[in-house]
Amino acid sequence: MGKPVTIKINGREIQADSDQYVLNVAMDHGIFVPHYCWHPGLPPEGNCRMCLVKVSTSRKLEVSCMTRCADKLEVDTEVPEVQKARKDVLEFLLINHPLDCPICDKSGECMLQDFTYNWRGGLSRFLGLQEKNIRPTKDLGPNIRFWGNRCVVCTRCVRFMSEVSGSGQLSVVQRGDHCSIDTAPGVTLDDPLSLNIVDICPVGALIDKEFLYQARVWYTMRTPSVCASCSTGCNITLTTLDGKIKRIQPRLNQEVNGYWMCDDGRRHFGYVHSERRLTERIGTPDEAARALRSVVERHGPGAVAALCSAYNTCEELNLFKEIFDSLGVTQVGFLTATEGQDRTFKNGFTIRADKTPNAAFLTRLFGEQKVLEGSNKIVSLVADDKIKLLFILNGLPDRHFPRALRDLAGRVEELILIDILKSPLSERANVLLPGAAWAEKSGTFVNAQGREQTFKAALTPPGEAMPESKLLSEISLALSAVPAK
Ligand code: SF4
Ligand code: SF4
Ligand code: FES
Repeated sequence: MGKPVTIKINGREIQADSDQYVLNVAMDHGIFVPHYCWHPGLPPEGNCRMCLVKVSTSRKLEVSCMTRCADKLEVDTEVPEVQKARKDVLEFLLINHPLDCPICDKSGECMLQDFTYNWRGGLSRFLGLQEKNIRPTKDLGPNIRFWGNRCVVCTRCVRFMSEVSGSGQLSVVQRGDHCSIDTAPGVTLDDPLSLNIVDICPVGALIDKEFLYQARVWYTMRTPSVCASCSTGCNITLTTLDGKIKRIQPRLNQEVNGYWMCDDGRRHFGYVHSERRLTERIGTPDEAARALRSVVERHGPGAVAALCSAYNTCEELNLFKEIFDSLGVTQVGFLTATEGQDRTFKNGFTIRADKTPNAAFLTRLFGEQKVLEGSNKIVSLVADDKIKLLFILNGLPDRHFPRALRDLAGRVEELILIDILKSPLSERANVLLPGAAWAEKSGTFVNAQGREQTFKAALTPPGEAMPESKLLSEISLALSAVPAK
């Protein structure tokens, strides 16, 4: 922390800190200064010159992203000299830029397109006077394709790789107007956070290969959501078109994920549109309730066992617990998913080994010891033929049920399954109720930090599938309509 200072931007007095840069302060106070190389999540570098402003301490214009606030500093962001400087910077940037907008994926969210529209005006003095530099278009790695001609060499991507991820897989190569970015010879851009550079590239130079030519962004819908692929719970935006997820991008939350998310989280949505989705019911919530009531009455609550997963929302888990508490069933087990170890990157961003979004709430609701037992106890009860009815509320995508559970499921008289994907268990279920994937329902997850985060449905579930909270509410209602004898 520096010391408190008062600066004036466009005549408006603003309290700031002497450690802050003028551009940060201006943006925080709603004064937009065009910029390319500056990004709030990266250290500043001052290379693009787009953020030039007039300051009272200098006769020439200064780059606001590298100028510290000083007491009584006066800044002008819209005077004619600044406007002219912006036009000139854009004129230079456009000398070598191709007229790619009609086929460029960044079109509609490109800062070069927007700033040119807002500030450039007029014709270029370089038209026809020089050949454009041609830089290669190439695959940098499994996820990203680089269009060299579109790059404005702002180095955001290079700084991300060195300062946020820490892998340093990208660097600036060549000199002068031949400058470009590249990996070292023989190195593949395969960093687990690599796709963040597609978001922060201000132009269409870095393109996500899976989003390439998938949608014009102005036709898409955006829904704020929370990533369900690990217990970090990154805040995200789902981009959807025609009922399908087209891409997932991070949404700023300084307390959780900052500006970033991991590549696995972005890619893990194929199951939502999978041909393996369960779309047709076998039986109804009423029948599930009748079966539960009947087994409890005939054999006692000890003949019923229930499993739920840490993929379910808080609302669903609360309903699940209420149902089995009301029946007096205490044999409850848990389906969880862990892979490897937590992985923390240079700036502190962490990908968790727990690949479920709601394990913290599961633990809060049932207790750590019980959750740690997982499904083992239930599996051995089924193996000992103590269980007549097994109820499973799953929803864990692309994870296999424990082998022992699959092998033993045929030993129970009644199997009631709420799930999203076909599996060996769905083929055996007496009552099968298709549930909704996380993108198709609203709810709350509690992440590994203990933060409750709500999210909204972006899509409609397919066929007869519906949110598990609705299915569980119907079972609960049906149970209360058939009171115990
Ligand atoms: S590829 Fe994009 S982010 Fe990287 S230097 Fe070029 S313009 Fe900047
Ligand atoms: S770190 Fe976890 S929550 Fe964040 S994007 Fe990756 S999988 Fe999703
Ligand atoms: S944003 Fe300041 S020089 Fe690039």
